[in-house]
Amino acid sequence: GSHVSRGSRNFIPLDYTMMTEYATSVVQHVRPTESELVMKDTILRRISDICNNLVPGSRVVPFGSLVSGFATKGADMDVIFSHDTIEPQPSSMDSNIPIRLANEFLKRGFEVDLLIRTRVPILKVKTPSPGLEPGSRPSSPSAEHVLKETIEEDPWPENISCDIGFKNHLGITNSHFLRTYSQCDPRFGEMVLFIKQWSKNRDLNSPYFGTLSSYGYVLMVAHFLINIVQPPVLPNLQLIPPEPDTPLSEVSQDGYNIWYFKDLSRIESGDLLPGGKNEMSLGQLIHEFFQYYTTNFNFVSEVVTIRTPGGVMYKQEKGWTSARERVGEMTTYQDRYLLALEDPFEISHNVGRTCGGAGVRRIRGEMQRAAQMIRKLSTPFLHENAGRHA
Ligand code: CTP
Ligand code: MG
Repeated sequence: GSHVSRGSRNFIPLDYTMMTEYATSVVQHVRPTESELVMKDTILRRISDICNNLVPGSRVVPFGSLVSGFATKGADMDVIFSHDTIEPQPSSMDSNIPIRLANEFLKRGFEVDLLIRTRVPILKVKTPSPGLEPGSRPSSPSAEHVLKETIEEDPWPENISCDIGFKNHLGITNSHFLRTYSQCDPRFGEMVLFIKQWSKNRDLNSPYFGTLSSYGYVLMVAHFLINIVQPPVLPNLQLIPPEPDTPLSEVSQDGYNIWYFKDLSRIESGDLLPGGKNEMSLGQLIHEFFQYYTTNFNFVSEVVTIRTPGGVMYKQEKGWTSARERVGEMTTYQDRYLLALEDPFEISHNVGRTCGGAGVRRIRGEMQRAAQMIRKLSTPFLHENAGRHA
């Protein structure tokens, strides 16, 4: 009867073959093609040229999934506007750069959007569409000339959008940090791509609308692989102390501790994981990830952290308890701690602050649903009978 099957459910060993096959095919499908990567490289150089035109000596430096290797097909590019002028720019001019740059891109037929309600301003530019109507653009002679140049080059096969930031320099550091982790074990990148795809399919990846950024999901996966699963899949690279002769620039930036162990040869040899190698399949790891966040992790009191030994931290000890207002560059914004996700370097920054109550509830509900579906798919008995009830 139902009692027996319910009671014995926990003792049936799950078979993750199908889940692993499914996840592997999803990952293969969402990985960008070689030609997309080449095209993005071309676009980046063009964007850099446009910046350099406006502010001599400036360029854009990529970060985010372009650097970490976690990009999915058609993903936006994240870059930082950077200029290494000897003389610091007068600050009044600095604050005009986003607006002046926006105009430069407009003149060249890009779609442009300037976000100022964010922590730091973000300029979103989208490459010109192949079918662009020149008549619909600004008609000053210089603008037309530049636009003509743009159109007569090879048209882009599709619109690629690029987010240009103006201040987030730790973003470059944390992207290289994640890249190092992704080189420790291929299952990290595979899990990230799968979770990113899942979060997008289930509409849980909209930081501007109350849910979590991809970066937040990456940190959740890293926390699980470093601190939770036993034996760990990844070592904790922030806990291995630096050699005494390590340059200060590798240890500290903007007052934050940015040290992490970078010697890939020692990482690959496995001696940083004394508990032995974790042999779990991709399917099992994904299932345990969802299980952990739905049944073990306490969203109300705990903080997701990757640097902390043991990986457990409480909102209380970080003072992350009640919402507060903070004054940003151009606007004030709300700090919320409904989902507490500590940034690995900027430890005062809650990466989960974009999540509202409804967002957190939906994320948790969808995680529960995913865990249940994987359990069904991986239970031999249920699976064999599935056909009869269908
Ligand atoms: N970042 C950050 N703090 C945040 C959000 C993002 O420092 N609160 C930085 C990180 O360096 C991250 C980068 O911004 O790698 C890009 O974040 P995001 O777009 O969320 O991640 P991607 O991996 O680029 O994902 P997607 O492909 O969905 O754009
Ligand atoms: Mg991105």
